[in-house]
Amino acid sequence: MEFTGSHILSIEQFERFDIERVFTVADTMEPYAQRRKVTRVLEGAILGNMFFEPSTRTRVSFGCAFNLLGGEVRETTGFETSAIAKGESLYDTARVLSGYSDVICMRHPAVGSVSEFAEASRVPVINGGDGPNEHPTQALLDLYTIRQELTAKQRGVDGLRIAMIGDLKHGRTVHSLCKLLTLYNNIQLTLVSPVELAMPEYIVDLLRSAGHSVFISQDLNHSIANVDIAYSTRIQEERFGSKDEADHYRGRFRLNQAIYTQYCEPNTVIMHPLPRDSRADANELDNDLNLHPNLAIFRQTDNGILVRMALFALVLNVVEQIEGSSRDVNWYRGQR
Ligand code: CP
Repeated sequence: MEFTGSHILSIEQFERFDIERVFTVADTMEPYAQRRKVTRVLEGAILGNMFFEPSTRTRVSFGCAFNLLGGEVRETTGFETSAIAKGESLYDTARVLSGYSDVICMRHPAVGSVSEFAEASRVPVINGGDGPNEHPTQALLDLYTIRQELTAKQRGVDGLRIAMIGDLKHGRTVHSLCKLLTLYNNIQLTLVSPVELAMPEYIVDLLRSAGHSVFISQDLNHSIANVDIAYSTRIQEERFGSKDEADHYRGRFRLNQAIYTQYCEPNTVIMHPLPRDSRADANELDNDLNLHPNLAIFRQTDNGILVRMALFALVLNVVEQIEGSSRDVNWYRGQR
């Protein structure tokens, strides 16, 4: 694909070659993300960071990634602080904000809303999550992390064995990750969820059409027994009609040190897009795993900066200028 000036709306727009391009650029962002080097290659550029649903990682890491490339960030968080609360349309909002920004990142609760916004925008739009539909940049950082974890074990993504666990119906991160995995070969997926929260049928069909093996299960312990990655997800309470309805499923699949030790292979990597629900009645990924070397959740969040920097650099066409505008930092960095 041609990255320059493109919207990033869905994993479906990528070919495998494009993914490798993103990852190659992401690798080069490490000294800037680590604040060993500074680049001002996006000096003068403005990111409009429009988040109409709660977010910690995606919103802040998009902002940090843009700042680390030298750009400025302007934000709207929640409907109540936006004129959408006064009845303004997505079309008008996009026309206005794209006059103020060089690129826009957006999260919104409605499926297809970010694409609708992008149609009216005069600048590239990046999907930070549209309801239960897709979260493409999360899938990219997840696969970047999977690749990194497997490389350390002299493995590639082809032939991956992964269990996805939790609310697979509403979990946009697993929807995008499954679509991304269709670009690779010979993947074995075990999809563990309550029957009512199963992965959408069309995504299972996509995986099987790509030649992958897909197993459906309601049994956590045996599903994580022979996998490279155990990818846990949260019950997406905000997608249910009531908290009581979500409570019905909360805490169904809990991974802790004892279960991991009893059932997983010693090399199995534990992932979660976060936030994990750490309340006692949920506790899907127990704190007793926090220091486990195979817990990759904070490597995922760190990698989010690299991948989002890479996307900004590609979409705004500055990849080739970064090295030439780079210098060492000149402040005290302490011990890292
Ligand atoms: N993974 C993720 O999307 O996290 P946030 O909701 O905090 O952005």
